[in-house]
Amino acid sequence: MGTIAFPKPSWLETDKFASTCIIGGQWGDEAKGKIVYTLAEHHDIIMRYNGGPNAGHTLDNITLHQIPSGILYEDKINIMGQGMVINPTLFKREMEEVKTMPYVGHLVVSPNAHVILKHEIALDLGGAKQMVGTTGKGIGPTYEQRAARTGIRVADLADRKTLADKVRKSVESVNRRLQKESWVSVDEVIKEAEEEGGFLADYMDDATRLLKGAKKEGKKVLFEGAQGALLDVDNGTWPNVTSSNTTRPSVGQTGYYLPVTKALGVFKAPMSRVGKGPFPSEWGRTDGTNETRHLIEDEKEFIEAMGFISSGRMPDAGKEIVKIGRDAMMSAILEKMNAGKATDMEKAAYFGWKGMEFGATTGRARRLGPLDLVLARRVTDINGLDGAIFTKWDVYSGTGEVEFVEGYCLNDASYPFDYSGEYLSEMEFLNLRAADPMIKKLPGWTQDIRGMTEWDQLPKNTKSAIKFAEKAIGVPCMYFSTGPKKDEIIVRMKAK
Ligand code: IMP
Repeated sequence: MGTIAFPKPSWLETDKFASTCIIGGQWGDEAKGKIVYTLAEHHDIIMRYNGGPNAGHTLDNITLHQIPSGILYEDKINIMGQGMVINPTLFKREMEEVKTMPYVGHLVVSPNAHVILKHEIALDLGGAKQMVGTTGKGIGPTYEQRAARTGIRVADLADRKTLADKVRKSVESVNRRLQKESWVSVDEVIKEAEEEGGFLADYMDDATRLLKGAKKEGKKVLFEGAQGALLDVDNGTWPNVTSSNTTRPSVGQTGYYLPVTKALGVFKAPMSRVGKGPFPSEWGRTDGTNETRHLIEDEKEFIEAMGFISSGRMPDAGKEIVKIGRDAMMSAILEKMNAGKATDMEKAAYFGWKGMEFGATTGRARRLGPLDLVLARRVTDINGLDGAIFTKWDVYSGTGEVEFVEGYCLNDASYPFDYSGEYLSEMEFLNLRAADPMIKKLPGWTQDIRGMTEWDQLPKNTKSAIKFAEKAIGVPCMYFSTGPKKDEIIVRMKAK
């Protein structure tokens, strides 16, 4: 890949081993992909350590779901680690797309990683998708099969003598949990495991040995997190979480212990969530329970894209927008925002379109709301973050003001955020669904900050908002992203 004028992070300026871990600071979709892609340039090895095709990292011209973002550099080694669950059919498709790109790096798949096959997807679609609002990619059931010792690993795909028998047992264990009419054909899954799985198995290599060598040879490793800390199966907003650990400790499951030199959390503003679950600062709160789309048939495609408006939360306005057109709608809302009169749904519509907030994996319209500093602080503490990376703030340009959450009201009591570092207690966190946000408004900026590359270019109010947020989050904002392109970023300061 061509180089950009992006300085090497200070902790990588050593002959010895060093590593960086990028962690989503929210419920995923924090625009981590671009950050990993940018930072990959200064690392030798890029490793995905958790999750599977529920992720979607959008880079310049491609969205990667399972393959690490370093694949687009010719000279990088990419590892799909043993904490991952990999769909071989999607992997093949993704690899074919990657091969059309100008540069393709080296890829190694851990033999211990688990494989998502048709029966696990059937189980996800038949249950958790409705209950939790999962991505329906078979993530949870595959981790379940891992725990039950009935799952298929990448190493199994390479052992043709025993594969069919193992797959049969795995499918039968799932079919026992499905209604008879939903049973998955054992033969079909065996075929998938042999054919698509065979393609995946060709990338299998000893990831543990590679990591060991990296430590010895002083290589620089980038751990590419997927999803976000608030979706962590233990630390997240249970039960609306994913099925793996998404936080810093999960880097310990790579097969060879490598310390994390710097852990950086990515925080988007406005922040978003897809699927169900509590989101106290959501504009037009739904808790994600109302996902029925009221489609107007002949405008189906447009309305699909406007999901947050046409989702049943605002069907009449949805019709109105189709009538007046998107640009007119955006100007009308902008005017209202500047007069301080926009409704929450209007803000969701505006920022949704402005930031193209549609899921990279499912295409679902993301739920949106102001950056929640209370949750962000909790994420800093869970992960022992060394620095923060702010993304998407450019969408606030010209909108009059910036909102943050700085506390909650819960059961008639208020819990203002204590800027000395107090965060929600465990008990309060459990009750997040019932919490109402305490909103702090700061003055916005008129100048469009999109694409800026220098701190000094930023308007005074943008800098004040960044300083306000980083104080609450507890770590410095080191990188401030000003757009989706690789070089649209401001390098601000060293990690703590
Ligand atoms: P699962 O990971 O498909 O089991 O879904 C569990 C929850 O995590 C659902 O609310 C998903 O929408 C959410 N989720 C999983 N992966 C991502 C991601 O990469 N970005 C955003 N949300 C995600």
